[in-house]
This record gives sequence, structure tokens and C-alpha cells, in this order.
Amino acid sequence: MLPQAVRGEGVYLWDAEGKRYLDFSGQAAVNFIGHGVPEISAAVAEQASQLEFVHSSQFSTPIAEEYAKELLEFAGEHFRGGCVYFTCGGSEAVETSLKLARQYQVEVGQAQRYHMLSRTQSYHGSTLGALAVSGNARRREMYLPLVREFTHVGIPYCYRCVYNCIDGCAQCGEKYAGELEKAIELSEGEAAAFILEPVSGATLGAAVPTARYMQAVAEICQRNGVLLIADEVMTGMGRTGRNFAVDHWGVAPDILVAAKGLSSGYAPLGAVIANKKVVDAIANGTGTFLHGFTYNAHPLSVAAGKAVLRYLKTHDLVHAADSNHPGTAGQNMETALARLLDLSVVGDVRGIGLLWGVEFVAEKTTKTPFFADLNFAGRVGAAARNRGLLVYPMQGSVNGHSGDHLLLAPPAVITTKQIDTAVATLREAIEEVR
Ligand SMILES: Cc1ncc(COP(=O)(O)O)c(C=O)c1O
Repeated sequence: MLPQAVRGEGVYLWDAEGKRYLDFSGQAAVNFIGHGVPEISAAVAEQASQLEFVHSSQFSTPIAEEYAKELLEFAGEHFRGGCVYFTCGGSEAVETSLKLARQYQVEVGQAQRYHMLSRTQSYHGSTLGALAVSGNARRREMYLPLVREFTHVGIPYCYRCVYNCIDGCAQCGEKYAGELEKAIELSEGEAAAFILEPVSGATLGAAVPTARYMQAVAEICQRNGVLLIADEVMTGMGRTGRNFAVDHWGVAPDILVAAKGLSSGYAPLGAVIANKKVVDAIANGTGTFLHGFTYNAHPLSVAAGKAVLRYLKTHDLVHAADSNHPGTAGQNMETALARLLDLSVVGDVRGIGLLWGVEFVAEKTTKTPFFADLNFAGRVGAAARNRGLLVYPMQGSVNGHSGDHLLLAPPAVITTKQIDTAVATLREAIEEVR
């Protein structure tokens, strides 16, 4: 049985028994600003005291309008003239982005385009449309008969590169991008959009692409009239040390999807941020996006999101997450986690900003994974939890089933001392299990 959580403050959570946990997982990479920030609960309470809810078919609200403007600005100049669509979480936002991409193609006279291309070893959510574009084998297998499937192309995962490169995927980014071009060609003019996680989240554990790959993918989409959707549910809102992870490579997707860090978990919230091209196509066409959930732009959720955005700007938390800057939490994570590489079962430490993966192997030189039944990552997660440390264990990095890794994504307010303590505790947990 799971413990009952009762309180949070900064990087810590407490259960009903009074046990304290250091949250090195950010609760599935959700919490970015720290737990228990009073300004956020105050903003939500203030909104609740004024107006709890209106339906988006009858009203907009000042708070949603102001927040949308701020988010567009945060997303950068490529989104000037764009629009934001608020949902209650990541899966709803991904569904929204897929339907928006389809409607865009219809509005611009490309009604034959409906294929939603995506990547193997990816995760975009648990609703059926999001599951269809996800590649995460374990999470989708049972539901496959229910989903409409399109092509999944390969994903650059440098530790186990299928092109067997020896230069950190410096050259093979173009080969992976070439797979996308081929898939578009094979769709015979029916490809509508390509969705990707700029940095892989839970499925591969923070596999970071090369600039060449990201730029080639963006260029291929643009050249072929295919919309590029960046699913930044996990990587957006500062998590990787940039406002959105695509900013690392100067790539401008047509649609950005955000959730998790958007509200840091203070209320259920997701957002689809569309560029002017997409918005204009609908505005100048039928004029209405044919889609909606009852709780679109819920006033309490957008109040939480708006307060979180203000908080992360005021406290310079995107900079804190930047692992390219000396002395930041991001760089301290990188340095501290690299120490784990001396353990015989730690094959790879990868990541960027405050999103890191630690991959376990039974044998280092051959990169042989543990037998899936051993549940190595799950056991490390349990041993860490016993010691008061929370991590996010996953399996399937090698082929969807075997391959064990941890995802680590602490709040950006984590101190150097807390990082060192967490990594020392993680070492003990790994040593206990191996
Ligand atoms: C990249 C990505 N997209 C979409 C989702 C789905 O978001 P939610 O669980 O809020 O529906 C997740 C959740 O982990 C995710 O990591």
C-alpha cells in the first residue's frame, strides 16, 4: 500500500506517519517551483472567491486572457500572433493538438492529410489518441486494438544508437531525420503532423537529441507541409534550462504542448500553444476550432498557472535549471550524477537541465540489460523510498520491455547540499539492490 502524503515544502514531502521524503522525481517531473508555495494557493483562493467557473462557450475570463498573453510571450517570438488553448492536463492537450493539426490541414485545403506521425519509444499520454501516437510498448500494448495507428519512426537514443555510431550521434542525426522524410513520402501526401518529445521523458529517461537532428526534423516538416508538434508536457516551462526545450536548438514548432510544470501541480492544467500560421488558417476559414472540454481554461487552474509563471520568473528558476551554467542546480545535478558512473551497474547518465536519466545494465561493456522480471529499477526506487528519497523508476528503454532506468527531475529550488545528499542516498539504494 502507498503511504499517504499530507504536506509539502520546498523539495520535501511528508507522509501521514511523519516520514520526510526528498522529492528527487518532482512527482513525475511535475513540480518545478517547489512544494507548498503559499503565493500559489493564495492566488487560487483569491480566484475562487471571485469566480469559480464559467463555460468557455459563454465566457472568457480576464485571468485566462492575461495568462494566455504572458504564456505566448514566454513561448517566444515564433508564437507572436498565436493563441493558447487551456486544458486540464497533458493528455487532453495532446489530443487537442492532434485535432488542431487535422483541422488546420482541412482549413488550408489539404483534407487528405490526416496521418499523425510520431516516434517509437515515446509517450504522449493515456487517452486513445495520445496513446496512438505514443510508442511506449508497455503502456499501449493492451489497448492497441482500440487505437488508430500511423507510422512511428526511430528516435535518436545515443547510448543504444541503431546506426552504431561512435561520435555521440553527431552525424547520425540526419539518418534519424531521414526516417521521418521517408515516412512522409510513404504517406503519399496524407501526413498531417509529426509529434515528438524534444527530450525523451519517461520512456527513455532524458535522451537528448543533437541540434542537427532537431533542425533537420523541423526543416523536413516545413518543406513537406507537415505541422511540427513539440510535446513539451515534461520538458517545457523551464525544466531543461530554457523556457521550452526546443529553444536549445533554435527550432520553432507550429504547436507547443505544455502541462506538468505549467502549474507545477498546484492545479490540473495543460496548454496548447499554436503559432499564427495555425491560428490564421482557422480564423480565416471556418472561424471555429471544433473541439472542447467542459473544463477548458478553468479559472482556478489558470490562476494557479499564472501565479506559477510569475513565481518562476521572479525567482529566476529557468536559469537555476540551466545545466550549461556553473553553480546552477542544473549543473550541480550533472556533476553529482556523473559520480554514479563508477558503479558497475550504471551504464549511462544522460540529460539536460533538471531532467536526468540513469540507465542500469547487468554488464557494462556489452550494455546488456537486466532481465525485465528482476524489476531492477523498481527495486532501486523502493530502496530509495525506504531511505526517504523519491525517484521515478521505469523499464523498457532497450526494446519497450527490458532496460531499466530512473528519471530524476527535482524542483528547481533544490540546493547543492540536497543534491549531494540525494545522490549519496541513491548510491546506497543502488548498492543495496545490485
Ligand atoms: C511527454 C508527455 N506527454 C503527455 C503526457 C500526458 O500528460 P498527463 O499525464 O498530464 O495527461 C505525459 C505524461 O507523463 C508526458 O510525459
